[in-house]
Amino acid sequence: MKIASRFLARPEAARAIKLTLDDQPITAHPGDTVAAALLAHSGDAARHTVKGAPRTAFCMMGVCFDCLVEVDGRPNVQGCMIAVRDGMVLRRQHGLRPLIGGGEDA
Ligand code: FES
Repeated sequence: MKIASRFLARPEAARAIKLTLDDQPITAHPGDTVAAALLAHSGDAARHTVKGAPRTAFCMMGVCFDCLVEVDGRPNVQGCMIAVRDGMVLRRQHGLRPLIGGGEDA
């Protein structure tokens, strides 16, 4: 389900940063966090829980972990705690991801 973004777009004066989200090109503004870029892009879920419940950024300050996303192949990155940069590759997470350095993908 696609919902309208809850954020207003800023003027296009700032240079756009180009990223990919699930192999689709998206743009963001310099200084945006990954979570803000995803919310501004579509407002869709950034991840799904093991039971398939959609989650997206909520607190925007590193507390709720609802913004977990895969960034450049690294799973479980808090999107609200990392700034966008050109060429960043983002993937929505579905279910559990292994901890860095161990575990199998569930
Ligand atoms: S939005 Fe809550 S931890 Fe990132």
